[in-house]
Amino acid sequence: MRIDIITLFPEFFDAYFEYSILKRAKENGKAEIIIHNLRDHSTNKQKSVDDYQFGGGAGMVMCIQPIDDCISKLKAEREYDEIIYLSPDGETLNQQICNTLSTHKNLIMLCGHYKGIDQRVREHIITKEISIGDYVLTGGEVAAAILSDAVIRLIPGVISDETSALTDSFQDNLLAPPIYTRPSNYKGWEVPEVLLSGNEKLITQWREEEALKRTEEKRPDLFE
Ligand code: ADE
Repeated sequence: MRIDIITLFPEFFDAYFEYSILKRAKENGKAEIIIHNLRDHSTNKQKSVDDYQFGGGAGMVMCIQPIDDCISKLKAEREYDEIIYLSPDGETLNQQICNTLSTHKNLIMLCGHYKGIDQRVREHIITKEISIGDYVLTGGEVAAAILSDAVIRLIPGVISDETSALTDSFQDNLLAPPIYTRPSNYKGWEVPEVLLSGNEKLITQWREEEALKRTEEKRPDLFE
């Protein structure tokens, strides 16, 4: 998968993609992440990317020209499955959206700033708007990093234990069951007997019951 991220703060992503699984995904060719500085695509002398709002009002608006030029250049080079704008008024991100996006080959993620972007970008260029939750961030960078992380880890071969991503919380709309490791008794706090029994059938059954119990308790909205 190739992800092109368009941002006013390219340095933000340096650290994020240079660790653990994401770094490995890049190294073994499962994910290619290319960061574009939107300012490089501005055609005016000052390299500005924002302007005042028509009709008045507080806050600057990101201009259409640099965004259109940057995305048009990318689209001329390859086909993109989705051109995503990270925005608090997009569709709220969930595991199903991540699953679908993880099957795609080429994605563009546009990070917004200031008051937002010119509406014509949203109408004519963007194909999908995603929010990471009902709160407003200072920019789309954190959201793009979260979305990339959630999607890249689902690409087959990125996580060494292939079944691991499939047993995550939310994959079947349930939270994951409790997990334990050694020692089986710590300060008298014991691991449930069934997990030490070696009986796979009983263990699977216990995990299913616990996942249901946990979901009903912590996320009644999912349980419904
Ligand atoms: N940009 C600002 N707030 C955001 C949010 N909640 N989700 C995605 N992008 C954003």
